[in-house]
Amino acid sequence: VFASSFTMYLTNVLFFFLFRDQILSITPKTQEQVDILKNVSTQYETALWQPVSPQYIKEETEVHLYVPANSSEIVKDLLQKHAITHGVLLANANELIEMQTRNGSTDPRSSSTFYERYHSLDDIYHWINRTQQENPNMVKTILIGSSYEKRPLYVLKLSINNRPNKKAMWIDCGIHAREWISPAFCLWFVQNSLSFYKLNQDITRILDNMDVYILPVMNPDGYHYTWTTNRMWRKNRSVSKSSNCIGVDLNRNFDANWCTEGASDEPCTEIYCGAFPESEPESQAVANFLRSHKDSVQFYLSIHSYSQMLLFPYSCTLDELEMAQEAAQAIRRYYRNTYKYGSGAKTIYLAPGGSDDWAYNLGIKYSFTFELQDRGRYGFLLPPSLISRACNEALIAVKTIALKLNVFF
Ligand code: ARG
Ligand code: ZN
Repeated sequence: VFASSFTMYLTNVLFFFLFRDQILSITPKTQEQVDILKNVSTQYETALWQPVSPQYIKEETEVHLYVPANSSEIVKDLLQKHAITHGVLLANANELIEMQTRNGSTDPRSSSTFYERYHSLDDIYHWINRTQQENPNMVKTILIGSSYEKRPLYVLKLSINNRPNKKAMWIDCGIHAREWISPAFCLWFVQNSLSFYKLNQDITRILDNMDVYILPVMNPDGYHYTWTTNRMWRKNRSVSKSSNCIGVDLNRNFDANWCTEGASDEPCTEIYCGAFPESEPESQAVANFLRSHKDSVQFYLSIHSYSQMLLFPYSCTLDELEMAQEAAQAIRRYYRNTYKYGSGAKTIYLAPGGSDDWAYNLGIKYSFTFELQDRGRYGFLLPPSLISRACNEALIAVKTIALKLNVFF
């Protein structure tokens, strides 16, 4: 008995130290190292966290790479062979993933509220239903289309009066499947709006003057896939005619400089633009909805993670710059945290076919993409304990910008 439990103990220890998914941080110093890294991230079973695609790996710029346990040895050997040093951002990705999928009901010790946890797609659908039923005077659900795998795309409309010519704002979350803090924010926003209307002055002012459309999960197929199969999935789940690789990057599928530099026509990449603009049912549904509401929607916002940035389209005016600046200052003042702000193209990278540029070209003058927490400490695996902080930061940014819109009486 002793011998066998001892062997088991050893196996556990070994398992603990060797066979775990990790996030490595690597800064290539030479062109040769850049090439090796590009190779590693495409040849082996890894997931590039930063930059979004291997083509952007360059000298002296930090790379974040998710390395699953089974390719850990071979990847580390390769790095060592080429004298590429690495740091370990997260040594226990499996535990973090486990922690994020654990739910309040199964863990009685957890004192967190519903909104301080991540939720499966089914839970979110139930939440949508419940939210509408419990707030019949303020919330309506609108079915705007369905996903590639035929899941419904529901938009929540928060509206407290029917004033003529009322303006509106739009928020979408979960374009990219692995950015779990994004849907969590949409839920947070709805909850906050419903509970603080008439209590918080800013929320009241916004809701008295504007309708709010919220799409909590724009990419339900991908989101579901991150819960069941691959936590690092980014794209949707559409099957390509020309390749065995699955998925289109929905944020490269809109009709704005579609598939130019910064996107790829290769289905196996993470930034695949799709067969043609709006080829995907998810982007088409959003585009159709916004086209038919473009006279009322004044503010478009798309929520992503990670890197802490408030972004607006390239051709924007001083107005947007000022709004983003004020929003970043509000976050600093209230939460002592730093968000960069600027045009998407200059601040993060080119993203042709992005929803923000498309919405702007449609005539929605105030169009933003927010990249929420963090800056790489946990990356896409932001622990549930940081949800409230991340969401409150984004919330104050949304309020700051919304209150500057020209829609108030
Ligand atoms: N993380 C987003 C993406 O990869 C950033 C998009 C920012 N928008 C832009 N037009 N550059 O899609
Ligand atoms: Zn994203």
